[in-house]
Amino acid sequence: SILIIDFGSQVTQLIARRLRETGVYCEIHPFQKAEEAFERLKPKGVILSGSPASTVDIGSPRAPETVFDAGVPVLGICYGEQTMSAQLGGSVEVGHHREFGRAFIEVKKPSALFEGLWEPGSRHQVWMSHGDKITAIPEGFEVIAVSEGAPYAAIANEQRRLYGVQFHPEVLHTPDGGKLLANFVHQVVGLKSDWTMSAYREQMIAKIRAQVGSKRVLCALSGGVDSAVAAVLIHEAIGEQLTCVFVDHGLMRLGESDQVVSLFREHFNIPLVHVDASDLFIGELEGVSDPETKRKIIGRLFIDVFEAEAKKIASDGKGAPEFLAQGTLYPDVIESVSFSGGPSVTIKSHHNVGGLPARMNMKLVEPLRELFKDEVRALGRELGLPDFFVGRHPFPGPGLAIRCPGGITREKLDILRKADAVYLDEIRKAGLYDTIWQAFAVLLPVQTVGVMGDGRTYDFVCALRAVTSVDGMTADFYHFDMTFLADAATRIINEVKGINRVVYDVTSKPPGTIEWE
Ligand code: XMP
Repeated sequence: SILIIDFGSQVTQLIARRLRETGVYCEIHPFQKAEEAFERLKPKGVILSGSPASTVDIGSPRAPETVFDAGVPVLGICYGEQTMSAQLGGSVEVGHHREFGRAFIEVKKPSALFEGLWEPGSRHQVWMSHGDKITAIPEGFEVIAVSEGAPYAAIANEQRRLYGVQFHPEVLHTPDGGKLLANFVHQVVGLKSDWTMSAYREQMIAKIRAQVGSKRVLCALSGGVDSAVAAVLIHEAIGEQLTCVFVDHGLMRLGESDQVVSLFREHFNIPLVHVDASDLFIGELEGVSDPETKRKIIGRLFIDVFEAEAKKIASDGKGAPEFLAQGTLYPDVIESVSFSGGPSVTIKSHHNVGGLPARMNMKLVEPLRELFKDEVRALGRELGLPDFFVGRHPFPGPGLAIRCPGGITREKLDILRKADAVYLDEIRKAGLYDTIWQAFAVLLPVQTVGVMGDGRTYDFVCALRAVTSVDGMTADFYHFDMTFLADAATRIINEVKGINRVVYDVTSKPPGTIEWE
């Protein structure tokens, strides 16, 4: 395996991503725990990530010395290159101008890192993002590539198999970056491509068994892909020791609750407690129009209902569950390395089960912590979840409540649910569902005048939203063909009573958010 030591770069997760694409297993650990991880994992190679920190600052993070002494190949990326230089006797200074974005490097020497990929004398596009620069390299190292802003764009100590690159091979703006990382793991480290989803599944099952032993686990299903995949995986590992609870807030899309229930009970034969709490949720939300208040009410009720259910389960005579399973994904855990500090503004209070474990005094089982969304989907398919389920667009915890600006009523939710279903049906028929990251309808609290047949109508406006995105952090609105929009609008107005006008949202994120509330 490969150990990736995280110094807090925004793109560390992409290193893991690229390595898995080459079929090699890797783990990311924050620099504070790197030594421990190195001992335990006994990796065949190490990669040092970038960082927002500066090696020149007092107390800036360092790689454990053992990493350089162990005789395993090391690749330092950006900050990783700088700290390796600094730690092995070179020097780094604060740069006078930052080099940021696209740059070109020129290869100066042949190297095992470039084997079969880059010839001396050739030029290649790379992506740089650094302020500091190396001013002297440690003994035993030589420069293997240069760029205008970085005379030490790539350095190597071939004998000790230590390499450093100032650019970021993990991002797509470095077109050959994936191949370069593949070279490191295959040519330099000598690992084979034997990491597959089915190997990961076996490994995770063993891990879950080791963690949980004979104890019971409680899992809160949200109806989404992540918690479902986590639950099925855990069930495969520990069977009856798992109890799944689906708190149904009545704010799901059309037919979705039934799909979740039948997927578990029928398709997988996994026992499921289905709590229909829609009256409670919709009752408490009645007349509430402030988005944050809606989110808080839903979050609080969810915890109340789940806790009550957990108490019932704990008193069934089989012992109280000690673990709580969550479908946390890698992008949710990036805050694991934090030293840049500074309070961040709360844009929205995200609803998830994050508050539960502390309040209920439970330990966590999070088998998807190392995976990206598309890898979770692949694992779901591997576990036998149907395609339509694993391929589903992300859906927010507070559900349709935040797609119905203004006060909520059952009637409005029904209208929204129908319009949303028609819209998604059109998207599927046009073959666009998988190209779009997320698409949904929003029911506006605005009525407008229309004419249908010979009569006047005074009905709601429905807004359609569709975005492309990689991780939901930024998003572009989807450029539909006008004919598609016209057809979808016609169908919605004809088929959904209560809507007489449809508009399309052409806002990207930022400045908009994906959801309207
Ligand atoms: P925004 O609207 O913040 O959404 O651009 C980004 C992504 O997150 C989803 N989302 C949520 N997911 N609980 C969730 O689990 C929430 O409270 C929540 N709010 C937004 C949203 O659907 C989009 O995919």
